Amino acid sequence: MSDGVWWASQDFWRKCAIFVTAGMFLVLILLTFHSLAAITAGQDRVPAYSVINHRIDYVFDEERNMKVPVIGEEAPLFGEVLSEEEARALVDLGKLTVQAKNCMNCHTLLGNGAYYAPDLTKAWLDPGWGNEQARELLMTMFLKDPKTNARTYGTNRRMPDLGVTDEEVRGIIAFLKWMSAVDTNGFPQGFEPLPQGGA
Ligand code: HEC
Repeated sequence: MSDGVWWASQDFWRKCAIFVTAGMFLVLILLTFHSLAAITAGQDRVPAYSVINHRIDYVFDEERNMKVPVIGEEAPLFGEVLSEEEARALVDLGKLTVQAKNCMNCHTLLGNGAYYAPDLTKAWLDPGWGNEQARELLMTMFLKDPKTNARTYGTNRRMPDLGVTDEEVRGIIAFLKWMSAVDTNGFPQGFEPLPQGGA
């Protein structure tokens, strides 16, 4: 062991540690801004909130070899076209309600949460709602009174009544519709959407 070798000196390694830590700190800051830009609504993969004014389909893309959301013609939620600001406020209300009522205690959203109840990422496109025309009404009835309108998917699991107001229900549905338009790289795998456009 010779103290004379430059790469064996304590000073050299101390400097290395400082440079690497400072360098990685910068990378972390850059990645944070990069991620924030990529997940902000209004991007390629995360649509603007006013997407709730449109029909959302989920179709197979040959090139990517997975299903991707396709934003179609105007199909306003509850028959009312909202401005970007109004749509944002409604989706916000839905998201806050979903957080306040801790829906994740049973459900997953974008894959996060509990596995007691179905994943809600594509709940808006669930074929279980029967057809496009009935969907908004059925979702409203279900969320207002999930016990009476239980669907259970053959599991016998029941969703409790969470006491959400009419406005909160509209918000939740807007939030679910918006979330179904997020490009999730084909998650959940193998999901077949409700037939769209009378198809
Ligand atoms: C205690 C567990 C539990 C909690 C908490 C819960 N759910 Fe559910 N939810 C269920 C179960 C179980 C089902 C399936 C049974 C059914 O459909 O009747 C379900 C079904 C659903 C469905 C239909 C899913 C689909 O793909 O069609 C939606 C939408 C939904 N829940 C939304 C919510 C929202 C929004 C919240 C929070 C406000 C919430 N749930 C909180 C248990 C829960």
